[in-house]
Amino acid sequence: AASPAAGSGGGRRRRVLLFPVPFQGHLTPMLQLAGALHARGGGGLGVTVFYAAFNAPDPARHPAAFRFVPVGEGVPSADLLPSGSDADFAVALLRLNDRLREPFRDRLRQALAEEEEEEGGGAAACLVVDSNLRGMQLVAEELGVPTLVLRTGAAACLVAYMAFPALCDKGLLPPASQDKAQLDMPLDELTPLRLRDMVFSPTTTHGNMERCLQHLLDAARSSSGVILNTFQDLEDSDLQKITNGLGVPMYTVGPLHKISSGTESSLLAQDQTCLKWLDKQEADSVLYVSLGSLASMDEKELLETAWGLANSQSPFLWVIRHNMVRSSHQVSLPEGFEEATHGRGMVVPWAPQQEVLAHHAIGGFWTHNGWNSTLESICEGVPMICRPQFADQMINMRYVQEVWKIGFELEGGLERGKVEMAITKLLCTEEGRQMRQRAKDLRDKAVKCIEDEGSSKSAIDLLLKRIMSF
Ligand code: UDX
Repeated sequence: AASPAAGSGGGRRRRVLLFPVPFQGHLTPMLQLAGALHARGGGGLGVTVFYAAFNAPDPARHPAAFRFVPVGEGVPSADLLPSGSDADFAVALLRLNDRLREPFRDRLRQALAEEEEEEGGGAAACLVVDSNLRGMQLVAEELGVPTLVLRTGAAACLVAYMAFPALCDKGLLPPASQDKAQLDMPLDELTPLRLRDMVFSPTTTHGNMERCLQHLLDAARSSSGVILNTFQDLEDSDLQKITNGLGVPMYTVGPLHKISSGTESSLLAQDQTCLKWLDKQEADSVLYVSLGSLASMDEKELLETAWGLANSQSPFLWVIRHNMVRSSHQVSLPEGFEEATHGRGMVVPWAPQQEVLAHHAIGGFWTHNGWNSTLESICEGVPMICRPQFADQMINMRYVQEVWKIGFELEGGLERGKVEMAITKLLCTEEGRQMRQRAKDLRDKAVKCIEDEGSSKSAIDLLLKRIMSF
């Protein structure tokens, strides 16, 4: 199918402006979206990425036509980054909006003043802003720039967040007690979610959660359209609920990592040697273990994980991020672990996750269920052991376990015996094999959505047309 090329045929050259939240799980899909729009527009659409000066993307790893504009260089990163074991991401998001709003106003004015000059230039069409950056959207509104909102999580999660105010009005949130029975209460209109899945994290206050979600819903409702990194055949009924509930156009364009090529947004260096190691392993035999870019564990959990992996006798590839273990600067694996797992396991500080999951040797993924990880796993037909920690991760886990039936939660305290049993269940039993088969069926559906006439490719074309129409 012909792509709706931007800037060709004598039309005015246009430029799309983007502002991602500066954390890996948000930055990646925004840059993938930029790559997809740029490529689908035949390279004619200009791209400007505003970024917080810490966690800066590397321009050298993106198309030369992309412009990168820092915002808030003077703001100390310690003011913005969540830190410590009681890190509260809701606070981090609120602060980010607060501190970057003024600096962004200046930068946006400058960008708008720039003429259609230079390589890849063009008049600004609109700003695509992360759904958590209501502050930046307000600045754009002030300056007369239309906005689109990128929601980087699942449709299921957005539906749950849309229901949040009503659950508060009914007195269900915040939960009246920490009673197990109370927290396990099923939420009728949000099956398979329970009350506990609606609690952002143990360290986030209800007030901050409420403010964050209000900003998110305001951003979505006052935008010219919401872009979602998921696919129709995966979340059809939740997508329908969003369309009915938000009243703005929706563009379901995922899985973006399978559409966008040439964009490389990892903030940490990926250890490529693990791919060679995977080449030597048998098909569907290896457990890949990674908690994404923010989730963490304490030293005792590290120990139990290590021995669970060792005792399982299954091959594993384990990502231990430099800051993954709380209150420990230098991660040390238990004595005897190396001998017990020699040749059967590999530990790396950061992996090329998408390639790892696509490798035929991978049989399962122990994940924290960040949405990118969950989607990447689905797109490679890899079943999951779920260990969600905060934000949308519990919601994603419930869908993996209860709706798609492609994984299960490893619940409660981490103990080596439980870890070992979970690994065996996923990699070595009929139940695990069935989960893998269902995951592969979903993978096939994802492939269809990104074919030329598929729902996601069509949505990107519609989105591009919309951008060109501003
Ligand atoms: C955060 C939130 O925690 C998550 O809940 C939300 O859905 C998105 O923002 P993060 O925790 O980093 O994200 O998890 P996730 O969404 O899974 O993103 C991690 C990204 O890092 C993935 O794209 C993954 O491919 C990449 N990654 C992870 C690597 O490239 N190498 C690794 O070793 C691990």
